[in-house]
Order: sequence, then structure tokens, then C-alpha cells
Amino acid sequence: MHFSLSFVTLGLAVAGLAHALPHQRRSSVNLLDDVLVFDAPAFQDPANPGNTLVQLQAYTSTRQISIAPLVSAVSDFVNKTLGLDISGDLDTAASRLALFGTIGLSGKVVTVNVDGCGNGATLPSTASGGMAIQNVTLGACGTADAIGNVSLSSVDSRNLNFTVFPSSADGFGVISDIDDTVKVSHTLDKLLLAKATLIDTPVAVTGMPDLYKSLASSLNSPQFIYVSASPFQLYPFLRDFIDTTYAASSGPIMLNNLTTTNLTSITDFAANDGIEDYKSAMIDRIQGMYPGKKFLTIGDSTQKDPETYGEAIRKYGDFIACAWIRLVDEANNTQARFDAAFEGVDPSKYKLYNDTEIPSLANIDVAGGSCS
Ligand SMILES: *[C@@H]1O[C@H](CO)[C@@H](O)[C@H](O)[C@H]1NC(C)=O
Ligand SMILES: *[C@@H]1O[C@H](CO)[C@@H](O)[C@H](O)[C@H]1NC(C)=O
Ligand SMILES: *[C@@H]1O[C@H](CO)[C@@H](O)[C@H](O)[C@H]1NC(C)=O
Ligand SMILES: *[C@@H]1O[C@H](CO)[C@@H](O)[C@H](O)[C@H]1NC(C)=O
Ligand SMILES: *[C@@H]1O[C@H](CO)[C@@H](O)[C@H](O)[C@H]1NC(C)=O
Ligand SMILES: *[C@@H]1O[C@H](CO)[C@@H](O)[C@H](O)[C@H]1NC(C)=O
Ligand SMILES: *[C@@H]1O[C@H](CO)[C@@H](O)[C@H](O)[C@H]1NC(C)=O
Ligand SMILES: *[C@@H]1O[C@H](CO)[C@@H](O)[C@H](O)[C@H]1NC(C)=O
Repeated sequence: MHFSLSFVTLGLAVAGLAHALPHQRRSSVNLLDDVLVFDAPAFQDPANPGNTLVQLQAYTSTRQISIAPLVSAVSDFVNKTLGLDISGDLDTAASRLALFGTIGLSGKVVTVNVDGCGNGATLPSTASGGMAIQNVTLGACGTADAIGNVSLSSVDSRNLNFTVFPSSADGFGVISDIDDTVKVSHTLDKLLLAKATLIDTPVAVTGMPDLYKSLASSLNSPQFIYVSASPFQLYPFLRDFIDTTYAASSGPIMLNNLTTTNLTSITDFAANDGIEDYKSAMIDRIQGMYPGKKFLTIGDSTQKDPETYGEAIRKYGDFIACAWIRLVDEANNTQARFDAAFEGVDPSKYKLYNDTEIPSLANIDVAGGSCS
């Protein structure tokens, strides 16, 4: 099963640790709640160009419950299924798994303020599972990245901040996968994947930070958006990695929002091309936000990036300027696969590359219309 999303999630479901509270009445965030507001893309309101919209997403949960039983269940699970010993790194595993140990709170109303914007904004109350997402208006904002804050009661001194990434209606953007495109995740090897997810210090795919830095300049500060099918519970880990290792190309990270650890719905997701459907839906959202931009899409051959990007080109034409696909050893790198994935797509619109070619990608004049 080519299914990085959820090896860990699967372990939790098997361990019977899935949990959600019954639906709560609508209420504001209090001291007993935790709130994660994801870094958010902002875009020009088509109905009112002076106005900025932001696609705001928040997850509310009970504040940290004891993570120890969960870490111990995962530790047993990887011991039994993979022969992996994480007993020497339980603290790292605990920090990576922290959000898996939270209980999503429904009915919570999250209000935010963003530096330099005219209005605060309030999300509709969180759904069962604890998630809320909606485009909200911020009034007039500046054009630079801005810090936002969750507004809390006067007795709550926590600083729950996030970054808003605005971008103009035209120019370029980059849609990038994370696992095995910018970060070494070993998606096709369960043991190495579990290690990379739970305990290893994350490592960049060699040459990619420099490539993205170069794109940041050659495409004139494009909007970078990272789209990954990893579970949102890994957001703090992945965000920290992107923020530090890809500082020159930071941007919002869209992750899979499965709030459930229901084994059936997780395996359904895997069996029904869930990853491809999910990524296509995220590209649809991005297209709606930035219909006047052109996007370079970058991914790899382990999962469904070729199929997803091929479909996006057929659907949106020049909105997708190029698709670049990293050839990962052990993946299905056959001509038949790429012919099918990019059926009907002009071969000049996509490029398959191996690791030795990464530095040379910076020489491709994407802004001038080339893809290879
Ligand atoms: C798995 O757990 C057993 C029983 O606790 C232990 O003896 C063994 O060393 C563990 N193996 C690994 C690879 O963690
Ligand atoms: C966010 O909250 C912190 C702590 O309350 C405060 O110091 C900071 O000025 C706030 N920033 C914004 C953008 O509201
Ligand atoms: C999560 O997924 C559901 C079902 O696919 C969708 O309706 C909802 O808008 C998604 N929410 C987020 C946070 O993306
Ligand atoms: C955001 O919050 C973190 C954690 O409270 C804090 O360390 C950091 O300084 C805050 N950043 C800003 C820009 O307020
Ligand atoms: C788990 O998910 C499946 C498929 O989405 C659904 O039919 C089932 O009712 C869910 N079970 C629980 C306990 O929520
Ligand atoms: C936000 O608006 C854009 C543009 O209409 C749309 O593509 C996107 O799906 C919206 N996001 C949500 C979460 O509704
Ligand atoms: C590779 O993909 C092609 C096209 O989808 C498929 O026909 C072929 O069976 C796959 N090969 C392997 C080894 O999975
Ligand atoms: C990578 O691609 C280049 C250019 O197509 C080729 O010369 C080289 O042999 C390839 N390297 C590997 C390891 O496949």
C-alpha cells in the first residue's frame, strides 16, 4: 500500500486510540482549549480588489492530555510490525505525535487579528473533529507576509500566532509536494518512513533548498504553497522543517484534514485514490484563489503527483506552467506510467528529473515559458 499519509495514523487506529468528543455547543476559545491556526494564503478579493481574503484554517482541541500512553502504543506497534526500536527517542516521537494525542473540540469559535490588516476575522464554529476552514475577509492589508494572532480572553496570555502569506493576482506560484520531493521521507519503505516520521532529524532532498531559493528570485517572489497528503497532525513538524530548511521559499502548507482515526475511513481513503482526489481538490482551491497566476508544480514519482499534475494541466491549461517530477528509485518510473499520467499533455510542459539533474533545474527559464 503506497500510503505514507497514514502509516502512523493507522498505528493509532489499531491501538484503539481514536477519540472525539460529542458535539459541543458554540463557544469561544478558553484556557482549557488549544488552538492551531495554520499559516494561510491570502489573495485579492475578486469582488473588491482593495480587499484581502484569506483562506483561514484552525484546529481546536483539548489542551495536552498525557501523551505517554499513545507514544507507548506507537512504540509497540512499530516494534511488532516493523521491528523498529524507538525506545531511545521517545521524547522526539512524543513531540511529533503530540497532535495525534489531542481530542478535537467542535463548536469552538476562533477569532484572529492580523498585523497590518483592516479587520479581524472570525471563522464559523469548528466541526466535529475540531476543524474549521473558510475564506474570510481581512479588509485592506499590506503586501508583505504578516503575523496573525488568535484573540483570547484577557486572562489568557498565550501568544498563538501564525503567518499570512499574501500574493498578487498575477505573476508566478509554485505548488510543491513535501515527502520525497523536498524532504527525504522514504515513502516507499515502511520502516524508513516510520523512522523519518517519528524520530529522525528531517533531511532535505539534496539541492532542493538551493533550487527553491533560486526560484524565489527567478520567478520574482512566487507564492510557494506546499500541498501534501500527510496528516495535519504532522503540521508542527513539517512547518518547522520548511521554515528553517526552506526559509527562502516558505509558504502555507496544506495537509490532509482527515480528523478521524477511524480505520475504515482511513483505508477507504487509501483504496479510493484518496491522495490524488485530495491533491486535485487543493489545486482547485488554489486555482480559485489565484486564477491569474501561473504555477510551476513540483512533485515526485512515489505516489500520484504525475497523475495529479497531468490532470491539472488538462483541466486548467496554462494556469499550470510546468510540472516537474523527481524520479525516485523503486517507484514506478516506467514510460507507460508517465505516458498515461500526462496523456494529452504537450511533452514540453513537463520534465522528469533525477537527483543529478537537480542543480541544473535552476537554469530552466520557467518565467520565459520553458519547462525543461
Ligand atoms: C520489541 O519489544 C520486545 C519486548 O519488549 C523487545 O525485547 C525487543 O528488543 C523490541 N525490539 C525492537 C526492535 O524494538
Ligand atoms: C499577538 O499577541 C501577543 C501577546 O498577546 C502580542 O504581544 C502581540 O502584539 C500580538 N500581535 C498581533 C499581531 O496582534
Ligand atoms: C476536509 O475534508 C472535507 C471532506 O473532504 C471537506 O468537506 C472539508 O472542506 C475539508 N476541510 C478542510 C479543512 O480542508
Ligand atoms: C509566536 O509564538 C511563539 C510561541 O509562543 C513565540 O515564541 C514567537 O515569538 C511568536 N512570534 C511572534 C512573531 O509573535
Ligand atoms: C468509520 O468510517 C466509515 C467509512 O467512512 C463509516 O462508515 C463508519 O460509520 C465510521 N465508524 C465510526 C465508528 O465512526
Ligand atoms: C476560498 O476561495 C477560493 C476562491 O473562490 C476557492 O477556490 C477556495 O476553494 C476557497 N476556500 C475554501 C476553504 O472555501
Ligand atoms: C506502472 O504504471 C503503469 C501505468 O499505470 C502500469 O501499467 C504498470 O503496471 C505499473 N508497473 C508497476 C511495476 O507497477
Ligand atoms: C540522470 O539524468 C541525466 C540526464 O538525463 C543522465 O545523463 C544520467 O545518467 C541520469 N542519472 C541517473 C543516475 O539516472
